[in-house]
Amino acid sequence: NKEIIDMQEITKFQSKSEEFCPMDWYKKMLVNEPIYYNKETDTWNVFKYKDVKQVLSKHEFFSSVGNRSTVAVGANNKEGQIPEKVNVAGSDPPKHQKSRSLLSAAFTPRSIKNWEPRIQEIANKLVHDMEANSTVDIVQQFSGLYPTMVMADLIGVPSTDSLRYKRWVDVLFQPYTKGKEQEIDEKKQNAAREYFEYLYPLVIQKHSNPSDDIISDLIKVELEGERFTDDEIVRTTMLLLGAGIETTGHMISSMFYSLLYDDTTLYEQLRNDLELVPNAVEEMLRYRFNISKRERFVKQDNNILGVELKKGDVVIAWMSAANMDEEMFENPFELNIHRPNNKKHLTFGNGPHFCLGAPLARLELNIALKTFLQNFSQIEPVQSFNLEENLTESAPGQSLVHLPLNVYQ
Ligand code: HEM
Repeated sequence: NKEIIDMQEITKFQSKSEEFCPMDWYKKMLVNEPIYYNKETDTWNVFKYKDVKQVLSKHEFFSSVGNRSTVAVGANNKEGQIPEKVNVAGSDPPKHQKSRSLLSAAFTPRSIKNWEPRIQEIANKLVHDMEANSTVDIVQQFSGLYPTMVMADLIGVPSTDSLRYKRWVDVLFQPYTKGKEQEIDEKKQNAAREYFEYLYPLVIQKHSNPSDDIISDLIKVELEGERFTDDEIVRTTMLLLGAGIETTGHMISSMFYSLLYDDTTLYEQLRNDLELVPNAVEEMLRYRFNISKRERFVKQDNNILGVELKKGDVVIAWMSAANMDEEMFENPFELNIHRPNNKKHLTFGNGPHFCLGAPLARLELNIALKTFLQNFSQIEPVQSFNLEENLTESAPGQSLVHLPLNVYQ
């Protein structure tokens, strides 16, 4: 079990909203302390684009294998454990390569393309359930449901069960709150057990009835004589859920927050030219995935970043801060969907661990935004909305629990 690094000791954010909009802190760190040793947590924190990129990609010096972490997710019992075979996030090359190849069998670009109509159908359903000329809650009615429904469908769960499925997923990836660790742990273990008991028979069934889904793909995979056992397939789906649901949901909520509060002219601009959507999504990933960060462990003493790092030191790479480094992005604190290089953001990481689900996440985000633009002529904020009261801690940082907006036909 990994020791959790208390990020609050590093950031000293005064409120949830400050964590949700941490641009001032990033600016301060980029200027004053681009490489900052934090004594309370005994961590090195790295903010500049070129440094973050090196920490993420130079695995010979910065390892992903270590016993401390900036996030706590998943369950501790055997049903909730990620199979060692696909432990991509916690391994280094060369082992990492093999795990990644096994896992990417279910994420080939060809299958992503095939999935597009299915994802579109889910987005349509959720958007059509919203009443025009009324107030809707984008988190409760869209971003909190859509990524789970998409993943459930892609994994091969019958759509009639997707809400039950969502309840397990919500518990499995609920963060540990201080003082309630044991209680939450028990809930997670139960959810992992129920999840396992539900999915296992489905995997058995797919052996004789394969279809176009992740379970069927994982059954078929064979790499250098290695195959997945049924038990491993179930636990591999948990890994995909853990990596792909909260992140995508968080990003969609934040994207709408941005459309409502960062630049109110954007919605209309995008509606007039849907071709701008992919670039707008990239800019949102750069600017609004507010708190992307990853830890690495120094593998051998080095001076790559210009400071003496010793074997075993913990280094935290702040990708969201790097996305605001003016050496890389002109006027970085400005949201600009016409930025030519915004795809260079580090929100999906860099190097060997670059997000395996990035094409899927991008597709989900593009479809979500486009479907909205095609169905509603206008969106506007609700005056009484109070940001601070509508945030909660989650794996990607402070996330919106509610975001009301008025939608017009
Ligand atoms: C890895 C971000 C969506 C699956 C990563 C990493 C980042 C990231 C930063 C690199 C971790 C590292 O360097 O240690 C995001 C964001 C997402 C997103 C911001 C949404 C906006 C998804 C989705 C899936 C997914 C939808 C698939 C269902 C993975 C996997 C890895 C990964 C399997 C591990 C890759 C490896 O270690 O080789 N993601 N992700 N992600 N992501 Fe994503």
